[in-house]
Amino acid sequence: MTKYRFPEGFLWGGAIAAHQAEGGYLEKGKGLTTVDLMPIGPKRWNILLGNLSSFKPEEGEFYPSHEAIDFYHRYKEDISLFAEMGFKALRLSISWARIFPNGDDEQPNEAGLQFYDDIFDELLKHDIQPVVTMAHFDVPLHLVEKYGSWRNRKLIELFETYSITLFNRYKDKVKYWMTFNEINMLLHMPFVGAGLVFQEGDNKIQIQYQAAHHQLVASALAVKACHEIIPDARIGCMLAGGATYPYTCHPDDIQKAMDKDRESFFLIDVQSRGEYPGFVKRFLKENNLTIEMEAGDKELLKNHTVDYIGFSYYGSRAASTDPEVLKQITSGNVFASVENPYLENSEWGWPIDAKGFRITCNQLYDRYQKPLFVVENGLGAMDVVTSEGKIHDDYRIDYLRKHLTEMGEAIQDGVEILGYTSWGPIDIISNTTGEMKKRYGYIYVDKDNEGKGTLKRIKKKSFHWYKNIIATNGAVL
Ligand code: BG6
Repeated sequence: MTKYRFPEGFLWGGAIAAHQAEGGYLEKGKGLTTVDLMPIGPKRWNILLGNLSSFKPEEGEFYPSHEAIDFYHRYKEDISLFAEMGFKALRLSISWARIFPNGDDEQPNEAGLQFYDDIFDELLKHDIQPVVTMAHFDVPLHLVEKYGSWRNRKLIELFETYSITLFNRYKDKVKYWMTFNEINMLLHMPFVGAGLVFQEGDNKIQIQYQAAHHQLVASALAVKACHEIIPDARIGCMLAGGATYPYTCHPDDIQKAMDKDRESFFLIDVQSRGEYPGFVKRFLKENNLTIEMEAGDKELLKNHTVDYIGFSYYGSRAASTDPEVLKQITSGNVFASVENPYLENSEWGWPIDAKGFRITCNQLYDRYQKPLFVVENGLGAMDVVTSEGKIHDDYRIDYLRKHLTEMGEAIQDGVEILGYTSWGPIDIISNTTGEMKKRYGYIYVDKDNEGKGTLKRIKKKSFHWYKNIIATNGAVL
């Protein structure tokens, strides 16, 4: 038993993204997007970094997003399982290319709009609030080929049209919005975060910071439109979170840990506080980087800040200035980090740190003084189906229980948290590796890394555990 309850109306649920769940990649007029060109296997990582040789799926490669877990056709069954667990919220993303197949079309694709209408209706029928991310790592491919994606200012206007289309269409159904998933990811995986493809001789970092500025202005315009069109909605930013610890108490390590955190914070600093912080201006100057801005950009950023801070938390990071320590690097969710000797790692090398969750919640709330929304957290692990068809995922329950306990502690610390949507409540394909066997779900999906399987859904042990958490509003962890 925990010694407190979670706030009344706390939004318990799960989170998925279009390209990792839907499939139906060309169904009813959808255009190709960046994620449709990310195969599983050795070529994937290089592509995520922005080194792409072809703008078409290649013969002989397997692209997991093309079918994913077929949520496109099975969403009713999946939503009824979420409802059975008692979900109050489902975070999902809209695929831009279902709505505007090329990204710059004159008119939206009605079939794409209708698809999400049907999903929202199904959710609302079960009293599940949709929490919608407008861009979760996918950009219509045509925009990459024609304009160079977010390196080009043109994308701001196209994203604005897209966002206004969504707000007008779904204003009665969706009250929680987010603009860009893990906006800081564009500095680490530029193709994933911003559809950036680099050519020989490109000044990559310059392009990344310019693209980031374009996303920030687009995000401010979306906030403005959302507030005008749906005054009772809340719209947030989304950070790939996780506090960075200094490896020792040497002041150089403290400084480095602070700098590492600020590298990520700067984007949501702009989204939440409305201006570029001094440390970024200094960084740009010292690295001879210039962000081209147009008249009016600064006012837009200042006047249209987000209502809440959405973030993902998978683990903490550590920073050191000692060359010997720097030899031990772990992968962590894309952010290379020094190995923390006090923590264990997941099977994929991501540090597991429940206490860091409380620390991260406090750090974000201290910094922004706006409600937080935990929109991703969970353990990617390999599951085994027994001969009786059961999945005993006690390791997942253990991970989640410890993290929820620390989130409860953060709430006791005074942090305002709107809800918690764990990542991949049903197994979906991994973003970094494209694998199916890296599973986060309460619901097992029978499909393997090669795309084979019946797609049958099976409730895991954690399904029943999470159902009880929600039923008791976290009183029984
Ligand atoms: C976050 C992303 O970075 O981490 C998700 O927003 C992603 O899209 C999640 O799936 C977990 O990462 P992975 O690589 O295990 O799928």
